[in-house]
Amino acid sequence: MSKKVRRIGVMTSGGDSPGMNAAIRAVVRTCAYYHSECVGYYRGFQGMIQGESVNMNARSVRNIVNQGGTILQSARSKEFMTKEGRAKAAQNLRDAEVDGMILIGGDGTFRGGQVFSQEHGIPVIGVPGTIDNDIFGTHYTIGYDTALNTVVEAIDKIRDTASSHNRLFFVEVMGRDAGFIALNTGIGAGAEEILIPEEDLGLERLLDSLERSRRAGKTSSIVVVSEGDKTGKNVFELAEYVKQNLPYYDARVTVLGHIQRGGRPSCFDRVLASRLSVKAVELLLDGKKDLMVGMKNNEIKSCSLDQALKGKHNINKDLLRISEILST
Ligand code: F6P
Repeated sequence: MSKKVRRIGVMTSGGDSPGMNAAIRAVVRTCAYYHSECVGYYRGFQGMIQGESVNMNARSVRNIVNQGGTILQSARSKEFMTKEGRAKAAQNLRDAEVDGMILIGGDGTFRGGQVFSQEHGIPVIGVPGTIDNDIFGTHYTIGYDTALNTVVEAIDKIRDTASSHNRLFFVEVMGRDAGFIALNTGIGAGAEEILIPEEDLGLERLLDSLERSRRAGKTSSIVVVSEGDKTGKNVFELAEYVKQNLPYYDARVTVLGHIQRGGRPSCFDRVLASRLSVKAVELLLDGKKDLMVGMKNNEIKSCSLDQALKGKHNINKDLLRISEILST
């Protein structure tokens, strides 16, 4: 029989994402609802190692559902990758009588949490929070929808100036290993081409497509480039390459960068964070461990952390076809 869970810890780790605060709020309030204690750890695993924590109650999380970032702050901890670091963290949790942890973050967070739980027998439940949407076991991660809206709004503005000057813009968006942001914003913002890590369309194809656009009478164009794309060139080199091969194009580059990670969470992300986090606490209280919660077809589900880490959330390749048709 697993030990009764009385006191639950919560932390946010890895790249922050809009909606993490809504997730923290939901964890804390669900604990209060079920008369369990809740303790927040600062800066992810690093705060667990250093024992930097705060007791939280329902009122500790007032007025944060609408805020970007994370009130518990976030970090990527090198020390937690060592056995000694994890042992320190486990001792701190035992001293604080924490019976289980809710980990809000991405795959790096879940990988750390899984090893930690196996080594020290402290149950963990993962809540997927990353703008990249690259987690298996959920169709959506917290922050992805807000990031999409931020990017589309930015590209709409770039489109205004691109068309005023008859220019070609390369817009780099986040997504080190996954093209979800590029693909969906590319379609949403009406880009001519979309370059993603999952598919190497080749430089020749890019030139052909831009050449075709020009011949079709387009006077300005937008190419959305995922930071992890497979052309082997960064976005500035790409723009240079196109200028050299198609000199009639007046090309510019915009790197959207970390603005994609900030801002007020969309309603979708707030609701998603709330639903996932209520479920995460309920699973822990129910004696479950080493699971990740996710949303599939609008239903909240869970899978093992192992599955979440081994599986791959694939992009919908049909969107590439749609993009090609619509950029005619
Ligand atoms: O949050 C995920 C992500 O935005 C990736 O797309 C990006 O490569 C990375 O984080 C950059 O994060 P940082 O600047 O915090 O290292």
